[in-house]
Amino acid sequence: METQPEWWRTGVVYQVYVRSFADGNGDGQGDINGLRSRLDHLDDLGVDAIWLNPWYESPLTDGGYDVADYRAIEPRYGTLADAEALIAECHERGIRVIADLVPNHTSIEHAWFQEAMAAEPGDSSRDRYIFRPGRGDGSEPPNNWIAMFGGPAWTRLNDGEWYLHLFDPSQPDLNWDNEEVRSEFDDVIRFWMDRGIDGLRIDVAHGMVKHPDLPDTEPLPLPWSLQGGDEPIDHPFWGRAGIHDINRRWRAILDSYDDRMMVAEAWVHPTQLPLFLRPDEYHQSFNFDLIETPWDATAFRSVISEAATAAAEIGASSTWVLSNHDVVRHATRYGLPGNTDTRRWILDGPHDLLDHEAGQRRARAAALITLSLPGSTYIYQGEELGLPEVWDLPLDVLDDPTWEKSDHTVKGRDGCRVPIPWTATGPSLGFGDTNAWLPQPDRFAALSVQEQRIDPDSTLSLYRRAIAARNHLLADDPPLTMLEFGPGVLAYERGDVTVVSNMSARPVPIPAGTVALSSATETLGDELPPDTSVWLT
Ligand code: NOJ
Repeated sequence: METQPEWWRTGVVYQVYVRSFADGNGDGQGDINGLRSRLDHLDDLGVDAIWLNPWYESPLTDGGYDVADYRAIEPRYGTLADAEALIAECHERGIRVIADLVPNHTSIEHAWFQEAMAAEPGDSSRDRYIFRPGRGDGSEPPNNWIAMFGGPAWTRLNDGEWYLHLFDPSQPDLNWDNEEVRSEFDDVIRFWMDRGIDGLRIDVAHGMVKHPDLPDTEPLPLPWSLQGGDEPIDHPFWGRAGIHDINRRWRAILDSYDDRMMVAEAWVHPTQLPLFLRPDEYHQSFNFDLIETPWDATAFRSVISEAATAAAEIGASSTWVLSNHDVVRHATRYGLPGNTDTRRWILDGPHDLLDHEAGQRRARAAALITLSLPGSTYIYQGEELGLPEVWDLPLDVLDDPTWEKSDHTVKGRDGCRVPIPWTATGPSLGFGDTNAWLPQPDRFAALSVQEQRIDPDSTLSLYRRAIAARNHLLADDPPLTMLEFGPGVLAYERGDVTVVSNMSARPVPIPAGTVALSSATETLGDELPPDTSVWLT
């Protein structure tokens, strides 16, 4: 792989949810060899890098974010040799590989936790995690923290001690005040850097450091919610100042290699984010704002302007994300009224609110926005096919711990993790030779890669054209200037390219210029129809 400093600044990164991408051995689960057999798809799309959700040995209670061994590949996904072959093959094609690192917690199956459970209270093996006696007569949890998936954030062992887990009980939190924990992760990072991994996506990058007194806090209203308000608050476990020492330690390791990067999953107050992006900390942090932005020109405009200004001020690069493995897919979000709580809607409905056509059309228009913005763009597998959320999965197949932990009040994230349809027929639409671990709905057949490859009007063809045009027209990452084209229209200029997106309900005139790219499937006249974006040169 050629050296290319700062490749991540403008890269298009494709997120691979390994378990749902391609099944190479017929067990119904995606795997590394399945992915290797589908690299042509990524090459054709023209992406610069892939980010793989965790592929480490794991009971997969939380989709692999419960790691049993950070140096081993989950056997259902393959072997270390398969991983090394994948990295080499991606590099041959000029595609970089970003791995997911999960430092906040391990799986209960990790050797350290097994050792801690077998030991007595007070044993040094327990100090790698956060064990405490209970309150009162010991039968009350040490504090009132609520886990992200619901229920208390503490679980009691038979010997009476409690351990902390901000997520599922099967994901005990590590104690980052313990030097052995810190040096173990230094070593894990080197292990993967030595195998050629180009970058790390750091899970829960805002959570490792806890207040030393573990004080009570206000319960969070729902998983993934940020604390509201204008001011950052002194939260006992999110975004604490001590995090930055850890960031610097990792950055120093990465800097001792060529061209490596790390991107933070940091859900912190917007005023705190720049701290993560100081020159000796993260290279990038995900900007999740568009995930929470309704299909509305004013809202898009302010998110884009703020992010572009903030990035420019600190010399960072923006990142753009419309969907990932934790949220309702945007082709469905955009088919619902803007004020819908989509996490709840997938269970509670009303489901006839969904306008599938509008969702598809807007998702295509949104792709022409995110692929034309400064900085890098993350694509979640399947969005290039316009895959909608599978909100109607049968309840008995749900796998996300959220479903059980919320007492069946929040369905969880399985609907965006349904395997990719590669062909229009077959037991799992070409995903593998057998049924897939989550069933694909019939409506996926028409969206398969096979069908879309040969259709110039398909969403897949649009993504391909847009990435190629981006590489051609926006390669030098020109700055963005917002333009005024009236209410409901988002418009900006980047170098020689003008992007106009009509988010209103009526057609608007297309300004002067040649249409280089359009998200519409119909031929355009002088007017830009609703829910359509164009690039003009
Ligand atoms: C964020 C990941 O994206 C999510 O899938 C996971 O459940 C939590 N972190 C806990 O690791």
